[in-house]
Amino acid sequence: MPGGAVVTMGGVDATRIEAPVTLKTYFMCAFAAFGGLFFGYDSGYISGVLGMDYFIETFEGLDKATTPTAAFVIPAWKKSLIVSILSAGTFFGALLAGDLADWFGRRTTIIAGCIVFLIGVALQTASSALGLLVAGRLIAGFGVGFVSAVIILYMSEIAPRKVRGAIVSGYQFCITIGLMMASCIDYATENRQDSGSYRIPISIQMLWALILGVGLLFLPESPRYFIRKDQKDKAREALARVRGQPADSEYINSELDEIEANHFYELQSIPSDGGYFGSWINCFRGSLWKPNSNLRRTILGTSLQMMQQWTGVNFVFYFGTTFFTQLGTIQNPFLLSIITTIVNVLSTPISFYAIEKFGRRPLLLWGALGMIICQFIVAIIGVTDGSDNKAVAAMIAFICIYIFFFASTWGPGAWVVIGEIYPLAIRSRGVALSTASNWLWNCIIAVITPYMVDTDQGNLGAKVFFIWGGLCTCAFVYTYFLIPETKGLTLEQVDKMMEETTPRTSSKWKPTTTFVDEKAAFAPVVSHQEV
Ligand code: BGC
Repeated sequence: MPGGAVVTMGGVDATRIEAPVTLKTYFMCAFAAFGGLFFGYDSGYISGVLGMDYFIETFEGLDKATTPTAAFVIPAWKKSLIVSILSAGTFFGALLAGDLADWFGRRTTIIAGCIVFLIGVALQTASSALGLLVAGRLIAGFGVGFVSAVIILYMSEIAPRKVRGAIVSGYQFCITIGLMMASCIDYATENRQDSGSYRIPISIQMLWALILGVGLLFLPESPRYFIRKDQKDKAREALARVRGQPADSEYINSELDEIEANHFYELQSIPSDGGYFGSWINCFRGSLWKPNSNLRRTILGTSLQMMQQWTGVNFVFYFGTTFFTQLGTIQNPFLLSIITTIVNVLSTPISFYAIEKFGRRPLLLWGALGMIICQFIVAIIGVTDGSDNKAVAAMIAFICIYIFFFASTWGPGAWVVIGEIYPLAIRSRGVALSTASNWLWNCIIAVITPYMVDTDQGNLGAKVFFIWGGLCTCAFVYTYFLIPETKGLTLEQVDKMMEETTPRTSSKWKPTTTFVDEKAAFAPVVSHQEV
């Protein structure tokens, strides 16, 4: 046997042998995380641009010198259209991406996403009126949808199980860097009196697409995609590259056999009738009461992403500046927004360690609890003592601690879990649906929060944190009852664990058999037909 470990769990050799995780493997898997930059930057840059003088003059035909301050703004309906059209594009892009990833491959779909995104960004950069800007954002949104849905799938499928959580958390880290860079670049160009004020922050995104698209050309396709396509030789080659081992080594044989046996098993348990729509319907098959049914997993993935948005984090990132301004005593609300994005970046790496050390469930539970406490404190200070300087400072401090809890737990955790809970036969669509749910709720919250907090609307002010605190309480209860522990398991073992346990008992589960062991029992009746 090559020098690697025999993994024995529960006294049984449940995963056979496993390739050691080399630095090269680690970097190869982590590179894809770069796609998070799209997500973060693209959602982050627009709020700054909408407030830039030159942008308002160009897009509204107003002259700042002669227009009263209150009238020198982009009207609410246009703002909402410009901001939300991206999420709309992303929502549909993410849904479509699931199919493309199964038909053409994970890597090819991400590269296609980069090209679509480049076209969208080029149109936005060229725009000096609403029509082209909106069209550009819709098209770029499609590209971001492809990238954000398929990156999670790709990374989860190529990463070795021991570092899978940490690698997918790297994606979240890149999202946070994207958000922070967007605030900083907006800050740097906002006072320019030429089109560079908005064209620089918009066009700079092309760089992310180029780096990701070109870099991916040098990475292999996901071996699990090839197994789905019944191309075992290509799967072997791809796996050998990501694991840095010879294609005929025992490591590769063992892992490949397990992926293949699991796929046979799933094909057998999921009917492959019904053609294209039938295969979508597969995502919703099975009983709601069985933790491993497809329906249950699809609901789990989509609701987990909904809960992540319900934590209210984007209230701080999208409307932070306005909220801090409403608090009154703040000198530079813009700087405070940058600070929250910096806290977000600095706290995320904690999850690289914690998600593998403590597991997904504890991280999500503790994270929700931490956020609940901070949010209720902010809300209570807001209603009792809101205008006092010290009170405002305390509120800001607790908002930063709340961001710390989000960034080190729910931010990465939600993405890690959706990459792990689906069986291969519906994985690409399941991840796509879950990602689309993230964008849908992102959009809903972006649209409704101004109505809840604006002074001429609901005027909730800091009381809005009672709502986020209440929703985080739902997230806590939800995690306790529904989220299974997937730490340290291969994606194939996750499948078995969901079959054999309930979420609350899942962390104690140990693999005792492999799909290879069981293969003889079902392989002969399996067809390689697509599901
Ligand atoms: C969320 C985004 C959010 C970001 C903040 C992501 O995981 O999905 O909506 O803006 O984290 O870091």
